[in-house]
Amino acid sequence: MGLIHETDYGTKPSASAKTVTLAIDGTKIEVAEGTSIMRAAMEAGIQVPKLCATDTLDAFGSCRLCLVEIQGRNGTPASCTTPVAEGLVVSTQTPRLKQLRRGVMELYISDHPLDCLTCAANGDCELQDMAGAVGLREVRYGYEGENHLGLAKDESNPYFTFDSSKCIACSRCVRACEETQGTFALTIEGRGFGSRVSAGAGETFLESDCVSCGACVQACPTATLTEKSVIEIGQPEHSVVTTCAYCGVGCSFKAEMRGEEVVRMVPYKDGKANRGHSCVKGRFAWGYATHKDRILNPMIRAKITDPWREVSWDEALAYAASEFKRIQAKYGRNAVGGITSSRCTNEETYLVQKLVRAGFGNNNVDTCARVCHSPTGYGLSTTYGTSAGTQDFDSVEHADVVVVIGANPTDGHPVFASRLKKRLREGAKLIVIDPRRIDLVRTPHVEAAHHLPLRPGTNVAILTALAHVIVTEGLVDEAFVRANCDLAEFNRWAAFVAEERNSPEEVAKFAGVAAETIREAARLYATGGNAAIYYGLGVTEHSQGSTSVMAIANLAMATGNIGRPGVGVNPLRGQNNVQGACDMGSFPHELSGYRHVSDNGARAMFESLWGVTLDKEPGLRIPNMLDAAVDGAFKGLYIQGEDILQSDPDTHHVAAGLAAMECVIVQDLFLNETANYAHIFLPGSTFLEKDGTFTNAERRIQRVRKVMAPRNGLGDWEVTLAFAKALGFTMDYAHPGEIMDEIAAVTPTFKGMSYAKLDELGSVQWPCNDKAPEGTPVMHIGGFVRGKGRFMITEYVATDERVGPRFPLLLTTGRILSQYNVGAQTRRTANVVWHEEDRLEINPHDAEERGIRDGDWVAVRSRAGETALRALITDRVAAGVVYTTFHHPDTQANVVTTDYSDWATNCPEYKVTAVQCMPSNGPSDWQTRYREHADQSRRIAKPAEVAE
Ligand code: SF4
Ligand code: SF4
Ligand code: SF4
Ligand code: FES
Repeated sequence: MGLIHETDYGTKPSASAKTVTLAIDGTKIEVAEGTSIMRAAMEAGIQVPKLCATDTLDAFGSCRLCLVEIQGRNGTPASCTTPVAEGLVVSTQTPRLKQLRRGVMELYISDHPLDCLTCAANGDCELQDMAGAVGLREVRYGYEGENHLGLAKDESNPYFTFDSSKCIACSRCVRACEETQGTFALTIEGRGFGSRVSAGAGETFLESDCVSCGACVQACPTATLTEKSVIEIGQPEHSVVTTCAYCGVGCSFKAEMRGEEVVRMVPYKDGKANRGHSCVKGRFAWGYATHKDRILNPMIRAKITDPWREVSWDEALAYAASEFKRIQAKYGRNAVGGITSSRCTNEETYLVQKLVRAGFGNNNVDTCARVCHSPTGYGLSTTYGTSAGTQDFDSVEHADVVVVIGANPTDGHPVFASRLKKRLREGAKLIVIDPRRIDLVRTPHVEAAHHLPLRPGTNVAILTALAHVIVTEGLVDEAFVRANCDLAEFNRWAAFVAEERNSPEEVAKFAGVAAETIREAARLYATGGNAAIYYGLGVTEHSQGSTSVMAIANLAMATGNIGRPGVGVNPLRGQNNVQGACDMGSFPHELSGYRHVSDNGARAMFESLWGVTLDKEPGLRIPNMLDAAVDGAFKGLYIQGEDILQSDPDTHHVAAGLAAMECVIVQDLFLNETANYAHIFLPGSTFLEKDGTFTNAERRIQRVRKVMAPRNGLGDWEVTLAFAKALGFTMDYAHPGEIMDEIAAVTPTFKGMSYAKLDELGSVQWPCNDKAPEGTPVMHIGGFVRGKGRFMITEYVATDERVGPRFPLLLTTGRILSQYNVGAQTRRTANVVWHEEDRLEINPHDAEERGIRDGDWVAVRSRAGETALRALITDRVAAGVVYTTFHHPDTQANVVTTDYSDWATNCPEYKVTAVQCMPSNGPSDWQTRYREHADQSRRIAKPAEVAE
């Protein structure tokens, strides 16, 4: 069990390699040049009283509590703002200092409610600690004079309170919001005695620009900003370090507990992905784990129109196994398959693909990464030789130019966005390529140098036009290309991109971006210093998703922006373990570590370890499974932690495929939308209830640690083991750590991986092997993994999904900060206050043309189907483009998305759907029918019903 309080050194460490020697309270100390006297003292175990200083923020020097005396210098400088110097002799405890500190504390306390015994922060209050540390024994001033004690509390934020009467105006919250989060929501209003913290002009926290990241709450040394969970439950008593289960940033947290109850989640300072920061989801949105909707007992039913019947684990698994055996006996070995989840751990995912390959005896295993980042795997392995991003997040601190394309980091990857914004505030330049004017285009103290608001579906054309400028204007890093890339391929590519049809002037005619803007962006990327590209699903979820990834890889190679910090090609992974799900062999054609199933050597290794013969033909991808089900050839599916009905495109087709199957097994936390078509429901466990690892967007493998026993009785990995056993295939592990040992034994890039190493180092980025025993933060240093970097021709082929008179608008989709994917978790938390429903963003021009007013219901119709949602009129989207999120099942956004997909990987083309939008009276007929069906399908039989 871990500690609650980590050491706070007061100021940040110095990066200097040079050291200086000084004496503090008679102790000789050697520290890095640039270190503050406060930190130097703390590192030597000498506590200097402090209130406004904390080691996550820049020193501020306002509270005057940390005063010291320095021999030969006048006055009493603040130790937090005074750097060490060679030969200093410092005293931290003298009669004069003690008296000064008591005086300062006396003033604070005289304007502070003395309700310590009933205060939520009792025992975790720096003001209280400092009163003790400075030996304050009496307060000479009463409460009679002017004070702040009567100020009202702001309870508007669902997760924390703001009790202004307890504020000491230390400004830590304001600085945390600026420096760490980059939102600038808080100010210190007024002056002198009247100064107080304010979240906007006369606004509550909820009404203000605050994004509820909680950095201010964490920074506050008093009970002014306090988590409501602490007020409700009390102070935590132990902590466990674990990893966020939401997005691919992979923030590390201390789960602070009382017994088995989570009191709060505190971002872990030593977490290498987040460096002590978090967003609203990871820090606050964990209440779904104990939500009343959790299903905790296995359930079965013969038909999907029957109510569910609760059964024991043994009965459910025996039924599941007998159904799968029956189906295989009747329809053949290939009539069943499995889907792994990017929400589950590496170990769980590895087990599901093993179950399918060895237990089912086929390769019909696929993953939700199919529908998001499969083009990343294809594109980057083709060009560079590795299916993963090239950098760590720290790399952004060395970038001079950052291109963000098809990603919206402030909503989708908020903690990375905060680090990026910090770098941009320091002077790095930003190029945004996105149909929407995402927040990064202009946000406090950040403004993009160029925004290229391209027409959805024209990524390849724009990226190739950027390459055109680089090649034709002589901006290629020839030395890099000659040393690291296949020259023949480069020459072929250079001739192709130089063709006039790929020029900005030609591309501007259809891509919606002015030629000069494309030219300027290309010049900046090629000549602005270290240039890094970050991209998201706006790149991959297209019919040319893989081509776009290769076009990005080409740009980085051509300009030599690969193989060192500050540059690279960085896919921002959507879900927490998308990278891991791919690494673990979840695709039908690949074993773990991206070895093709036709690779005899790789197969032989698994065969001898698992004691089975493996199929050398690739199995079915998710869309192929659904097609085969509709055709009557595919009958049984085991889905762990996925809601394909809501998340996959063309809902009607998914529903038809599921309805055609004879046994659908859903393993999840809640009765999700897919479970409406299931025959067996196996309750899943949350990340708080499991041991394992997640791999984030940086290839960083981090431990997930159990903080409470699985509420459903079994961990997800144990369920898969039990299902395999019921099928007659035994997998024998006593702990997920043993599964990782097997992964390391069979996967070259994981060769040096173990839980012991993760516990020792905190986290490790693969490849981790003999050559890199502590992992690889930056890849392709000194050469590409595949040998020579490979330039690929990126011919732009317009999607078949075209606008026309019937469907004149282009619909594109994305996420919002407070919600996560299909919303199963976040909709069951107070995060709904920020996003109760999905809305359709529509440009004022398009809205007016159709008579649509803000808030009106709008029918959205495509070739695939029709849905309805309410309008949000905004010029954030260009005329001709509409946009929505897809977090709420009632919206059924995927009813309208089509089954067009990436040519190489089948990743669906979510980002481009031609639609028509018209005013409507409310939800569509399909939505209403669907809701009725869902309500009917979710019935759980009461005991009497079962008896009958
Ligand atoms: S919660 Fe985050 S965004 Fe909101 S005021 Fe605090 S630091 Fe700023
Ligand atoms: S709210 Fe807390 S952190 Fe902010 S100024 Fe007041 S005491 Fe300091
Ligand atoms: S959702 Fe992403 S950014 Fe937010 S805390 Fe979790 S991992 Fe970090
Ligand atoms: S801690 Fe140094 S002035 Fe406040």
